[in-house]
Amino acid sequence: MSAGSATHGAYFARRRGRKHDDVTDPDVRAYLGGAQSRAAFARDLDEAGVPAATDSAGSFVIADRHTDAFLGTVSLTRRGVHRPGHLRPCGEELELAYTLNRPFWGRGVAYQAASAVLGAAAVELPDEPVIIVTQSANARSLNLARRLGFEPVMTFEEFDAQQTLAVASLHGFRPQWATR
Ligand SMILES: CC(C)(COP(=O)(O)OP(=O)(O)OC[C@H]1O[C@@H](n2cnc3c(N)ncnc32)[C@H](O)[C@@H]1OP(=O)(O)O)[C@@H](O)C(=O)NCCC(=O)NCCS
Repeated sequence: MSAGSATHGAYFARRRGRKHDDVTDPDVRAYLGGAQSRAAFARDLDEAGVPAATDSAGSFVIADRHTDAFLGTVSLTRRGVHRPGHLRPCGEELELAYTLNRPFWGRGVAYQAASAVLGAAAVELPDEPVIIVTQSANARSLNLARRLGFEPVMTFEEFDAQQTLAVASLHGFRPQWATR
């Protein structure tokens, strides 16, 4: 598995079928606004173009190290101030998000991918808080956040559901070789 190396538009263009699997799966979308129909997702992708979904800085595909198969996505992007749920009034906090196709849950894949992205960012960027925002009912996501070392600090409403905001320090993820 490699998080962050096999990424972006060309990858999705080749494997758009696997990306369909995560947006159309009711389990995967249970806390993300529900499953989309395959046709609607394909239409959106065609209208916006693959790069719109994949080329933003901090968005990565999680791929199997051996087969290059699409497993999911992980992103570390800025949470826009127009959305609710912030640590500070100006917003734009670094926000971690992740989604795996259903067959790959329960294997530590999301943990490994999130750790890789956070570790790389911690070497590149000055220290600052990183947040995870997830529905309070999303036990798997909250467990992953806890295992990564994020601490829940507040709850708020978005998309008609209670959300939990958890926080950690970016430099807490610096690999040992970078702290010497
Ligand atoms: C949230 C989500 C990514 C969590 O996936 P996950 O596979 O449970 O997360 P992890 O990678 O941390 O794996 C943890 C599981 O793997 C097991 N595991 C096996 N090997 C492991 C390893 N080397 N390291 C860590 N965990 C390991 C753990 O014991 C745990 O098992 P459990 O589920 O029986 O408790 C997944 O449920 C998902 O894609 N959900 C839909 C999208 C979503 O809601 N995203 C949240 C929006 S931010």
